[in-house]
Amino acid sequence: MDFHDTILVCEENLDATTTYITKQQQTLAQALADHLPTAHVLALLDLDKKGWQNIQAHGDFLRWSQGLNALPDVQAEVEILHQVCVQSVEQTDVNQEKVTQALQQLHPWRKGPFEVFGVHIDTEWRSDWKWQRVLPHISSLQDKVVLDIGCGSGYHMWRMLGEKAKLVLGIDPSPLFSFHFASIKRYQPDAANFLIPTGIDDMPEGMKCFDTVFSMGILYHRREPLEHLYKIRSLLKKGGELVLETLVVDGDATTCLVPRGRYAKMRNVWFIPSVAMLEIWLQRAGFKNIRCVDLNTTSTEEQRSTAWMTFESLVDYLDPDDAQKTIEGYQAPKRVVMVATYEL
Ligand SMILES: C[S@@+](CC[C@H](N)C(=O)[O-])C[C@H]1O[C@@H](n2cnc3c(N)ncnc32)[C@H](O)[C@@H]1O
Repeated sequence: MDFHDTILVCEENLDATTTYITKQQQTLAQALADHLPTAHVLALLDLDKKGWQNIQAHGDFLRWSQGLNALPDVQAEVEILHQVCVQSVEQTDVNQEKVTQALQQLHPWRKGPFEVFGVHIDTEWRSDWKWQRVLPHISSLQDKVVLDIGCGSGYHMWRMLGEKAKLVLGIDPSPLFSFHFASIKRYQPDAANFLIPTGIDDMPEGMKCFDTVFSMGILYHRREPLEHLYKIRSLLKKGGELVLETLVVDGDATTCLVPRGRYAKMRNVWFIPSVAMLEIWLQRAGFKNIRCVDLNTTSTEEQRSTAWMTFESLVDYLDPDDAQKTIEGYQAPKRVVMVATYEL
């Protein structure tokens, strides 16, 4: 390959990403117009546009878009009921080595797993296990308008669509996740799920548009957890459901851990309440029907380094002599699923 070939490949890569973004913006505009009031449609489209502008300014944008474009251009379908699996509907064989190389341009893969033309993306997290813990306890998503705050790669958004939601919006400000999502969505561009690259703080207040709002793995990263719950309340329709998944510690209604510094090596962990304390937060934020439906200590089988996420993982965050503790001496990660409704 000479210099000119290299330039040509780069331009093709940028074009493929631009095509994806343009197509998604069009289908997003239509889907939002079908389900939300006009004022919110314009606000969300603006957030989407700004989000992609930020992503395009990112130093890794070229590598990621090269990865996206190197994926095979074949007709495919995405199986989403029991897993998230992209499979060709053409007779031609897909070169799995090339698929692996393309997807590896998007390392690290944290949330999944995904299957793409027979290549298994063994992500750091078994997000499917979380979904199995959540799904039996929530209201049916059929024909619902759903928001997934901090949706990561969009793994759960696909599974929500698999439960026949009418529209699934995910928001996440982390640029790489938009590429993970794109590498699946490009094979089903008309699917009714969209990742808007933005954060919860930029979402319009008082939308009151969503039947179900998921907030999974977010609350402990918020410095104002009560504000987060109030914000969710303002996004829900009357009678809408909150599905909240977050870290908790053992203790009673007076217990809440505020780490002195890091928690499990994470810098951005602020409040980890007991379940009883969390119930009070939800009640103070105006939620009713508050239920703790699952409690689970995170295992090193659920969160671990793999060939698709080669950095440190849970085992490195725990005390090597006592897996019940984090490396800082706090209680090891335990996660709760709470379900509640907003009636007013
Ligand atoms: C622990 S992960 C949880 C991912 C997924 N919801 C899950 O349960 O597996 C936290 C996610 O929140 C995203 N995030 C960080 N700040 C955010 C914000 N201000 N608004 C929305 N999402 C945010 C991160 O990029 C990350 O994907």
